[in-house]
Amino acid sequence: MSKVLYISSEAFPLIKTGGLGDVAGSLPIALLKKSQDVRLLLPAYPEVLNKITKIKKLAITSYYDLPVEIVETRLPGSNVIVWLVDCPAVFDRPGGPYTDNHGQPWDDIALRFAILCHAAVDIALNNLQLNWQPDVVHCNDWQSGLVPALLSLHSKRPATVFTIHNLAYQGIFKQQTFTDLHLPIELWHMDGLEYYGQLSFMKGGLAYADKITTVSPNYAREILEPEFSFGFDGLLKQRAADISGIINGIDEKYWNPGTDKYLEHKYNRRSLNKKVRNKTALQKELSLPVDDSIPMIGMVSRLVEQKGLEIILPSLETLLAMPLQIVILGTGETHYEILLSEYAHKHPERLKVIIGYNEPLAHRIEAASDMYLMPSTFEPCGLNQLYSLRYGTLPIVNNVGGLADTVINSSEENINNGTANGFVLKQQSTTSLLATIQRALTLYQKPEIWRQLQTNAMSGSFSWQTSAEHYVNLYQQALNEL
Ligand code: ADP
Ligand code: GLC
Repeated sequence: MSKVLYISSEAFPLIKTGGLGDVAGSLPIALLKKSQDVRLLLPAYPEVLNKITKIKKLAITSYYDLPVEIVETRLPGSNVIVWLVDCPAVFDRPGGPYTDNHGQPWDDIALRFAILCHAAVDIALNNLQLNWQPDVVHCNDWQSGLVPALLSLHSKRPATVFTIHNLAYQGIFKQQTFTDLHLPIELWHMDGLEYYGQLSFMKGGLAYADKITTVSPNYAREILEPEFSFGFDGLLKQRAADISGIINGIDEKYWNPGTDKYLEHKYNRRSLNKKVRNKTALQKELSLPVDDSIPMIGMVSRLVEQKGLEIILPSLETLLAMPLQIVILGTGETHYEILLSEYAHKHPERLKVIIGYNEPLAHRIEAASDMYLMPSTFEPCGLNQLYSLRYGTLPIVNNVGGLADTVINSSEENINNGTANGFVLKQQSTTSLLATIQRALTLYQKPEIWRQLQTNAMSGSFSWQTSAEHYVNLYQQALNEL
């Protein structure tokens, strides 16, 4: 049994903006089941404080002259102990973890997450006398990247693991921020936190963590190549021996079409014929023409280039001339929000675009749709294609990252050998997307084959069981090598 401090900037159901929230809200539960003594460390955003009832004060300290309390609570619906870094000066304000209510990044975002990192380091070194010191500190994405760097300066320290969920977001700031944050000068060099004259939080994890993981085996290979490395292929190649890919699992209780509390019409593999009732219910809810035979394509996503919008948008005119309905739920870059909304306005019978973040609607779209659109340019793992598979909603994906690891193309051969569970683009292009959707629509007209594909999809295993085991082994390996 290891004592694991798991650090994240979000964790469902307390706070979530994307897949990291899902992972940080479910992997610690799976680790607990594997007898790991895990503590989840999160910032005490107002949204988090509003969702919890019982809190216990554990310690008082300060960073950058700002008062900080460490308080204890539980992850709702689980026994996972959560420690919150409560620093009202930087966290107590309306808005999201990374941006204000207008989508602008916080001016003091470096300070916000430096404070999270300092608290983690102090817990790791037992400076706060919490009566619990981790053997392993597990960091996630750039927001906790300073932790391995700062801990590397101590000879007696826990092992460090850094998980890359998305290399595109690196926490890069001016050199002045390094000075303002009083970070130790020993860390400022080209093999350290310096990134072409700037400060990179992400590099703290990549350069200093004992072990690096990414969230799928395929992405672990891809990031060693310039095309997917966002400038880090050199460093990552040097560290290749310490990098592994562990595929994400999902919360199988929460994303289960048989018990989903947001669905009026629950269904499972054996009662798949009930799935279509979710389609007509959603058509009514969204004022689309009610027709159970028209194929529906769903998408729930951050509206950013990563998610394939550059090939989706040019294909829309052609797609919307076909007999199908498309439902898109998302928020993100303003120009994508505007363009999609304009298309929806022009084609009210075919396309519904809902701009916003809506957890219940996300579940209903997964259940209602026949196909799920996710032609990402890169995808470290991707959770929505996993939810789709589980809901018998066949994913249409690009051949990258975790999408390639989890979706098996409905080629003739794969249909015949019983493995096909979705549709994989030949290449990242509008032509390929249209051809793939066309193929999906053709197979949709063959109910027996379609049913078989859905059954294949729903029979997959997406639990954390095996992946949590891999993390436990990795923790042990990191400890042995310390
Ligand atoms: P990423 O982390 O890159 O955004 P993932 O597929 O790993 O992509 O995870 C995205 C998660 O965020 C999923 O749980 C998805 O349902 C959720 N999500 C994204 N956008 C929205 C939205 N607008 N409303 C509700 N849920 C959303
Ligand atoms: C990131 C990635 C996504 C992954 C998620 C959780 O946001 O973009 O592919 O599923 O993290 O690991």
